[in-house]
Amino acid sequence: MNLYLPLIIFGILIIITALLVILELLLGGSKPKTITINGDNQLVVYGDETVLTTLSQNKVFLPSACGGKATCGTCKFRLIDDVPSVKPTEEPFLNQQEIESGVRLSCQQKVKPDMKIVLPPGLLSAKDFETIVEHVEDLTYDIKLVRFKLINPSTIDFKPGQFMQIKVPGIEVVRAYSLASNPSEKEFVEMIIRYVPKGQATTFVHKAVEKGDKITLIGPFGDFYLQEDSNKPIICIAGGSGKAPIRSILYRLKELGMNREVKYFFGARAVRDLYFTEEFIELEKEFPNFKYIPALSEPLKEDNWKGPTGLITEVLDLMVDDLSNHEAYLCGSPGMIDACIKVLNKHNIKEKNVYYDKFS
Ligand SMILES: Cc1cc2nc3c(=O)[nH]c(=O)nc-3n(C[C@H](O)[C@H](O)[C@H](O)COP(=O)(O)OP(=O)(O)OC[C@H]3O[C@@H](n4cnc5c(N)ncnc54)[C@H](O)[C@@H]3O)c2cc1C
Ligand code: FES
Repeated sequence: MNLYLPLIIFGILIIITALLVILELLLGGSKPKTITINGDNQLVVYGDETVLTTLSQNKVFLPSACGGKATCGTCKFRLIDDVPSVKPTEEPFLNQQEIESGVRLSCQQKVKPDMKIVLPPGLLSAKDFETIVEHVEDLTYDIKLVRFKLINPSTIDFKPGQFMQIKVPGIEVVRAYSLASNPSEKEFVEMIIRYVPKGQATTFVHKAVEKGDKITLIGPFGDFYLQEDSNKPIICIAGGSGKAPIRSILYRLKELGMNREVKYFFGARAVRDLYFTEEFIELEKEFPNFKYIPALSEPLKEDNWKGPTGLITEVLDLMVDDLSNHEAYLCGSPGMIDACIKVLNKHNIKEKNVYYDKFS
């Protein structure tokens, strides 16, 4: 019996391998599949990865602020024909109209044969950029400014307010960061990154990134950006690292002559959380139309703070009148944004004139 045992085991292994090969063929894993994007662009792809991963392997980049964990909802795409039912992980991010029109999360849907999908045309211009870290600076005890020089491609076009994704080398982690630099400076981009304890990307940026490091960025993405065809007065509201896209928007408004009235509310705890103060005070001196209003919720005794005190919502409520003709740009934590929108609504802002990016 002992003599035959190795033969039996060998035979079983061969049968299992054959079954696995048949299963893979049946599931179509190694067969080519086609994905048709917006009716004309056709990709031939292989494997059973998600739509998000497969598209990015083929240099079509969808935003994915959470790296595919179904917690950000930014990776939406629309399916035509054979639309699968919504997964529980997708439900929180899709409204009824989206569900009915075939919108799904690309990180939750696997590639199927002959997929026809629709992506916003703006997304097709997102690329991966090889960059070199040119400058790293501490803005506060927990916020860093990082400047990335673009190597390949060597220039970028982005709208002020948009974001890019950092690909953390070594671990397959991708995170979104708003661009904080002037969109007219096309050879580099800057990001303002706040340290999140135990956070994967921010620990990498704060503890490991140095001048000269090579890092891949993907983008640009996002429909939070300055509406340049409008002449409405503007309210900007930011907290923490939410200053990043507002800084880019202000660079652009400055270039356009700052001919719109701009009030910029920035919420922080204490003086040690303030940064770029001189930059914005200079802007105030140059343009009477621009007003910078930092507010501290918990100023320290030694801060000797003479400016507005309280939550940014309270300060906003006190310092604005009727906003029915204003536009608002908000950036920061989801809680802060939701609370500020309530105050803006109280002052009659129109919903269509409110733009925001939640740093979730
Ligand atoms: C469109 C967009 C633009 C963004 N722009 C910026 C930007 O300009 N600057 C910036 O600093 N961040 C920005 N973020 C947030 C950023 O993408 C990351 O979510 C954040 O830096 C944390 O990443 P991480 O990998 O370090 O943490 P993770 O490893 O993802 O998280 C670790 C833990 O921390 C929690 N956590 C995650 N984020 C926070 C947070 N902000 N505060 C408290 N706890 C948190 C998580 O729930 C988790 O438990 C943006 C997000 C979005 C969606
Ligand atoms: S990538 Fe975040 S939900 Fe899909």
